Amino acid sequence: MKVLLTGGAGFIGSHTCVELINAGHTPVIADNFDNSCPEVINRIEEITGVRPKLYEIDVCDGEKVREMFKAESFDAVIHFAGLKAVGESCALPLRYYRNNIDSTLTLLEVMAEFGVANFVFSSSATVYGVPKEVPLVEGMPTGCTNPYGWTKLMNEQILTDASSADDNLSVVLLRYFNPIGAHESGRIGEDPNGIPNNLMPYITQVAAGKLEQLGVFGDDYPTRDGTGVRDYIHVVDLAKAHVKAIDYAAERKGVEIFNIGTGTGYSVLDIVNTFMRVNNLTIPYAIKPRRAGDVAECYADATKAREILGWQAEKTLDDMCRDSWNWQSNNKNGYK
Ligand code: UFG
Repeated sequence: MKVLLTGGAGFIGSHTCVELINAGHTPVIADNFDNSCPEVINRIEEITGVRPKLYEIDVCDGEKVREMFKAESFDAVIHFAGLKAVGESCALPLRYYRNNIDSTLTLLEVMAEFGVANFVFSSSATVYGVPKEVPLVEGMPTGCTNPYGWTKLMNEQILTDASSADDNLSVVLLRYFNPIGAHESGRIGEDPNGIPNNLMPYITQVAAGKLEQLGVFGDDYPTRDGTGVRDYIHVVDLAKAHVKAIDYAAERKGVEIFNIGTGTGYSVLDIVNTFMRVNNLTIPYAIKPRRAGDVAECYADATKAREILGWQAEKTLDDMCRDSWNWQSNNKNGYK
């Protein structure tokens, strides 16, 4: 299939691009490089031997998107592009709503014009808000705690409504848990701007000597060691879920939601200790107060993806910690 990847130069998009090529598909990337780097395209070519076609556009720009759809005959769209910093979304909510909602509306309108019927959306476990119980099952109540999360949930609603109104449209909503790791080649990986917000890039930058010490946000949660528990998933496993999702979408109509996690929760200290053991490094850390908005535990029931999509995570936490460090240690300044 020829598949449009919006935000295809980003962390999850680039890994999905590689897996699509490996599976014999033809990905085309649309990216405005707002939070990614053109060098990614060279790296994808290095890994796969195939250079994906690139459109350097903003997918909120309807005219540019139309021109691209006119030039390509897409079979499916995977929509990764979006703003994703939780804290920033609280400070700049309108920017988040404008960008993250506009892009989806534009894509849906242009897809209808050109008869492109298959849409896979990057949603997030953040749509479960503060979970009442774990593991999280797709049918559990949703509700968000910040504008970023609301943009994900609103997009899920928009896509659900669009699919109810259009018998041709097929939508797969993938609710990602916590993607970490990197391609085993160490040539593509996560390259956050500025000081990382997320745990694994923070750890790898401490390991690299770029940051002094990790702050562990809270050790008094009701978890086995008091630190927050999440469902960390290797980005290559996550990328492979998208290959399954486009096949699934192409065979059916309507909308389906899947949790994409391993089903296992690990604490912050599990991650730190595993990272130190696997990479034979020391990570200095200090316990800090809880971070506003964090929940104690968030992990998936991943049964539905296994049974219906035929996908399950294969890589271990050791793999995730090793590959994250392999990427960081070989690319001290990311793609720059
Ligand atoms: N943490 C620290 N120190 C840090 C960073 C994080 O202790 O410097 C802790 C957090 O408190 C949390 C865990 O590590 O317990 C994971 O935090 P991340 O920031 O890596 O990930 P979150 O679970 O907070 O957020 C992720 C995505 C969001 C998404 C959310 C819910 O980054 O985009 O999951 O699905 F909204």
